[in-house]
Amino acid sequence: MDVFHTILSFRGALRNERAQGKRIGFVPTMGNLHDAHLELIKTARRSNDIVVCSIFVNGLQFGLNEDWDKYPRTFEADCDKLRSVGCDYLFHPDDNEMYPNGLDKQTRVICATMADVLCGASRPGHFEGVTTVVSKLFNIVQPDEAIFGAKDFQQLAIIRRMVEDLCIPVTITAAPIHREADGLAMSSRNSFITERERPLVNQLNKSLNWVAEQIKNGNKDFIALEAEARKQIETVGLRPDYITVCNSKTLEHAAVDDTDLAVLGAVYTSGARLIDNVELG
Ligand code: PAF
Repeated sequence: MDVFHTILSFRGALRNERAQGKRIGFVPTMGNLHDAHLELIKTARRSNDIVVCSIFVNGLQFGLNEDWDKYPRTFEADCDKLRSVGCDYLFHPDDNEMYPNGLDKQTRVICATMADVLCGASRPGHFEGVTTVVSKLFNIVQPDEAIFGAKDFQQLAIIRRMVEDLCIPVTITAAPIHREADGLAMSSRNSFITERERPLVNQLNKSLNWVAEQIKNGNKDFIALEAEARKQIETVGLRPDYITVCNSKTLEHAAVDDTDLAVLGAVYTSGARLIDNVELG
């Protein structure tokens, strides 16, 4: 695996690959890689000649109360993991390379209406930071395909919308949620779950599945279903941020005649905020 720290040298290497007609698959990450990230790399490997990963802890998507500087940096271990699944190129820029004019002066990409709801409501500016860095990374890598985990449902929906609205020539692929044996969605944040909370946190997944089952059985009283799911989660001692049934493309609250639905949820544990979702086609 070749590692690049500058846009110029990285673009040169990719230009050579593209000139040989190679198809490029891209997995953007912030590092601290776990099995779910490696699944994204494996997905990219299956349908592309060249697999590119980026590791960049993007300050622009961290809120004032979120610890950008405490985000785990595990570069050497990440490189070993990427090599073990056949990643070809790793792009690992520093802040100055990505934001040479500073964060405050950086031109932003904003996905209107979808960025300030759900997770965006409790993390102001977060998705603006994501769309800005992802559009920069797309311009740098110019991949044929980019792979994102379906766990971050809102992020995925926003990126799909950004690509459509800005006519970015990349196919966005969602990789299925990678789960622990009890259903808990894998996440870097799971390391902040305490031992006492660990057996309880899969209640989020259980409650989202319960709502999805109710809808499949014809219950369209979404507000009542959301309220009941919240109650189930509170009963085990977790604090729900939101539980919502929404249109999976627009993220607007579901209407009874919507066909593409998703049940999304976020809960707070004592040290983490966990998200999960169930999609209903
Ligand atoms: O999902 C993530 O890890 C980040 O939001 C991403 C897409 C790498 C942008 O920084």
